[in-house]
Amino acid sequence: HDILFVTPEIADLVKVGGLGDVASSLPRALAAHHDVRLLMPAYREVLQSGHSIEIVDHLPAHAELPACDLGQLIFDDGLIIYLVICPELYEREGNPYCDELGVGWSDNDIRFARLGLAAAEIVSGNTALDWQPSILHLHDWATALAAGYLHWRGDDTPVIFTIHNLAHQGLCELSRASALGIPEQALNSEELEYYGQLSFMKAGLVYASHITTVSATYAREITTPEFGCGLEGLLALKAEQGLLTGIPNGIDDSWDPRTDSHLARAFAMNDWRGKRANADHVRKMFGLALCNGPLFAVVSRLVHQKGLDLTIGVAESIVRAGGQIVFIGRGEQGIERALCNLAARFPGAIGVNIGFDESDARCMYAGSDFLLMPSRFEPCGLSQLYAQRFGSLPIAHRTGGLVDTIEDGVSGFLFDEMTLCSYMEAIRRALMVFRATDLFYAMRRAAMVNRFTWRHSIEPYNQLYQTLLQQKATTRH
Ligand code: ADP
Ligand code: GLC
Repeated sequence: HDILFVTPEIADLVKVGGLGDVASSLPRALAAHHDVRLLMPAYREVLQSGHSIEIVDHLPAHAELPACDLGQLIFDDGLIIYLVICPELYEREGNPYCDELGVGWSDNDIRFARLGLAAAEIVSGNTALDWQPSILHLHDWATALAAGYLHWRGDDTPVIFTIHNLAHQGLCELSRASALGIPEQALNSEELEYYGQLSFMKAGLVYASHITTVSATYAREITTPEFGCGLEGLLALKAEQGLLTGIPNGIDDSWDPRTDSHLARAFAMNDWRGKRANADHVRKMFGLALCNGPLFAVVSRLVHQKGLDLTIGVAESIVRAGGQIVFIGRGEQGIERALCNLAARFPGAIGVNIGFDESDARCMYAGSDFLLMPSRFEPCGLSQLYAQRFGSLPIAHRTGGLVDTIEDGVSGFLFDEMTLCSYMEAIRRALMVFRATDLFYAMRRAAMVNRFTWRHSIEPYNQLYQTLLQQKATTRH
């Protein structure tokens, strides 16, 4: 089948979090069965990436959405990305969603409506492309309005909307509707209205033919008030109708400690000396003392979701137990500052890198004994998958995808409550295992087995695509 993926980020060009990884690896994993192409905005990083970009069409303005060019970029492996080229919207310092201070762009409604409308034009065959997808697959709120534009013009192409994080919804004033080309009659609580605002997320949830999210546990959780962000009623209804499924993320072959060229030394299972070389490398990177204690790592966006307040709360206990902690992350200024203060209090034992660096992150997965991940909620989580593959045992909150991918006491440690006490109990168990070397190595081996490949997830996506196309064929006849 011909499938158009719409995404606000892709790791090859610009990555904020796990969605960037998935947008890069899932289309490639599906390529054996389908012709999957992507659509995303041409941010500055994309235009400056050095890839050649061919202009293939020009799309007219609509409501207050400016006219734009449609570009095409082809990666060496043949993956095709269409680009919405509109410098006034996308060519800026900062990341896809916010400025350098972390404040969301004030014209995000226009920016991502423009993306959504471009997707709808491609799907409806209103462009000069000689390719027209039979399925539209949208990822998160920034792409969701595409489902609306198709619905309002009566296009019945199957649409899949994948929730990577329900907490980010893309809200704006209801009065923005006409600027975005959204019909007045869609502004009711059954459709786009969300507690007095206009919700992009709801366009995906309401108009898509099927909703998926990135783990089975999160798919259940979002039908409850605790995780549903006010959308639990709608999501519970979709689940009852069989229109909400959890399909776990996978990781690609680049995550292999035997071949990863970013590491200080490649290593395989049981080559614990090789792993140790990576630990020493990480200690040096962060200016920490070379010692034999356990090394804990945090690789994370610095946001409330990720529970860094809890890790800051247990840091002193870890150091007192002979452990060291290294952090890499970027995000909320308050958390950045708190981490820098922590590192200043424990020189030689705690190291902090406020930044984003793929190569450093990989070294940290490879060098650490444990990964700390006390997320308040976690749709899937990729960090804990990468850590396990590289022999670092995750210590994580029992929530979302963490539950589905970490076996407590086998490949990592889970704790039940978002409290220091509950977290500390798991850390104590980890420290005990660290001292029981045979058990520790057995857990490392269990964690490193390559069990998170896309292989398991391709089948459910294939099934879903197939079912939706069949349904469309039957309703037409
Ligand atoms: P989320 O998407 O919520 O941020 P995930 O665990 O799914 O969480 O994905 C996070 C991704 O971002 C992983 O690939 C992780 O390695 C990467 N990452 C997070 N912070 C950093 C950082 N500071 N430097 C490099 N990579 C990072
Ligand atoms: C989101 C979630 C994360 C998930 C990622 C990729 O950013 O926070 O849990 O792994 O998307 O699906």
